[in-house]
Amino acid sequence: MSADIKPIGIFDSGVGGLTVLKVLRERLPGERFLYLGDTARLPYGSKSATTVRRYALNAAAHLVARDVKLLVVACNTASSEALGEVTAASPVPVVGVVEPGVRAAIATGARRIGVIGTEGTVRSEAYQRALARLAPEVHVRAEPCPLFVPLAEEGWGDHPVTDEIACHYLGPLLDWGAEALILGCTHYPLLKPSLRRVVGPKVMLVDSASSVAEAVTGDHSELMSPSRGDDGDVHIELTDASDRFLRILRAILGRDPEHLEVVDIAGVA
Ligand code: DGL
Repeated sequence: MSADIKPIGIFDSGVGGLTVLKVLRERLPGERFLYLGDTARLPYGSKSATTVRRYALNAAAHLVARDVKLLVVACNTASSEALGEVTAASPVPVVGVVEPGVRAAIATGARRIGVIGTEGTVRSEAYQRALARLAPEVHVRAEPCPLFVPLAEEGWGDHPVTDEIACHYLGPLLDWGAEALILGCTHYPLLKPSLRRVVGPKVMLVDSASSVAEAVTGDHSELMSPSRGDDGDVHIELTDASDRFLRILRAILGRDPEHLEVVDIAGVA
């Protein structure tokens, strides 16, 4: 298959990575996309690094077997804990979400950058290391926010309960003087209305979706297809299609998915 016809593969532990797919689709209207959400094994964020690596390698191997031309690891936990392993095992280029998010945060000019993510993402220190490498002058503090993923999945992105939990998680970062906050989890952009209320108007909220799109188009322009002027097709595969996931999927995409399939990826890698 020529690069023009091959899809871009994107995976996440669940449906949160659809926030990245949405931006990629807007920026790359000529592309075909194959999205894999490992909903049967969600959450990755509270699992050990060893398990996240195994799951991420399964997901990547599944997409590679489906002949994708590029892999986007649209899950912060998998990007933080398994990007090296996935890249080493992949015959096609791999783009993670951590470095694009860090570059976007540095571009804001903030000198004190807070990072929020799952327990796995924070424990891995992937954001802290990337910031230390790319902007050693910047101060970093990271906090895990484990209740944010279920709140996003509940559709409570603009809700008093989310405001209260966000005050609890973000209070220490605000007291510390964070000027920018990296939303280090693909679910968190869904909570922006509550997060904005809690952090106030001055703290910049950095979501990596647009910077991932820039990394894909900028670093891999030779693989991109010319726009055909239509809506390049999107195939969505889930490892579990419960009513709950389908409801969230529709809420994020704003419509029913055109092509949806349930797949079993365990033991693929
Ligand atoms: N999508 C995951 C991430 O970006 C969060 C959900 C999970 O814990 O699996 O880290």
